[in-house]
Amino acid sequence: MPNETIVIAVANHKGGCGKTTTVVNLASEFGRLGLRVLVVDMDPQANASMHIGKKHPSEITVTCAELLTSDIERLPQAINEDTMLENVSLIYGSLALGRTEDEIREQTPRPSEELRHKLEPLQGLFDVILIDTPPSLKLLTSNALAVATHVIVPIESGSQYGLYGVGDLMRHCTKIRKINPSLELLGALLIRHDERQTVCKLIENAARDQIGRLIPIKIPTSTKVAQAAIAQSSIHSIDRTSKVAREFKELARWIVQETKIVVTKEPTDGE
Ligand SMILES: Nc1ncnc2c1ncn2[C@@H]1O[C@H](COP(=O)(O)OP(=O)(O)O)[C@@H](O)[C@H]1O
Ligand SMILES: [Mg+2]
Repeated sequence: MPNETIVIAVANHKGGCGKTTTVVNLASEFGRLGLRVLVVDMDPQANASMHIGKKHPSEITVTCAELLTSDIERLPQAINEDTMLENVSLIYGSLALGRTEDEIREQTPRPSEELRHKLEPLQGLFDVILIDTPPSLKLLTSNALAVATHVIVPIESGSQYGLYGVGDLMRHCTKIRKINPSLELLGALLIRHDERQTVCKLIENAARDQIGRLIPIKIPTSTKVAQAAIAQSSIHSIDRTSKVAREFKELARWIVQETKIVVTKEPTDGE
């Protein structure tokens, strides 16, 4: 039985909390499981696109910006199958997304639902769509949440400000459920987590209280994260034996179980 497409938005309007890292490395892990993966980069900073794209976002004719503001016929042109990751396609982000919010607010009847409308034809063509979002709660993030079946909230565990503003995000998700009632919270994902540090323990407990659901896998701090971004590859291909690589692999497996994605391939660690 083919999979229904699972659409995961990775959202937190706090910058630098690990959204892009999570999107890229989860995409890599899902791809290694033989799943058909699409990354949709809704951030004007386009970091995910620079990480896994083979071209610079400025060279791309149809990025998320053009897709959102033009005709749905441009969808096939927006999908780039050739990326740095196996089985992973990409709809690029670009600086032009900075203007997109104003344009869709003026031009479309339901500005929060434009991405949902544009991605609708992809239902069933991908197993997983991962959406990276910008550090704001405005229309680009609303569009991601309105099309998502699931949301992951990365939280910087080692920072005392890691949970700042998370109540606003939770309220935003509640608001979005009026147009997307099936939006499900997969949970808070603790990033740069170290069990031995008091601040991490405190953030873990506070995240459980304030967000309501914690993902049981926690991502440790590692220099491999930045190394992978510089090498335009996954943490797995930089150092598959590292703890951070193993945790992202576990995270992908956990999500597969939670969302009941059917996986037919079992990657060996030698891959
Ligand atoms: N687990 C980690 N260990 C070390 N550095 C990390 C980790 N996760 C993210 N980073 C670094 O933190 C910065 C912000 O991460 P990023 O994923 O770009 O966050 P966001 O997309 O939320 O802005 C990046 O420089 C990234 O390399
Ligand atoms: Mg980012």
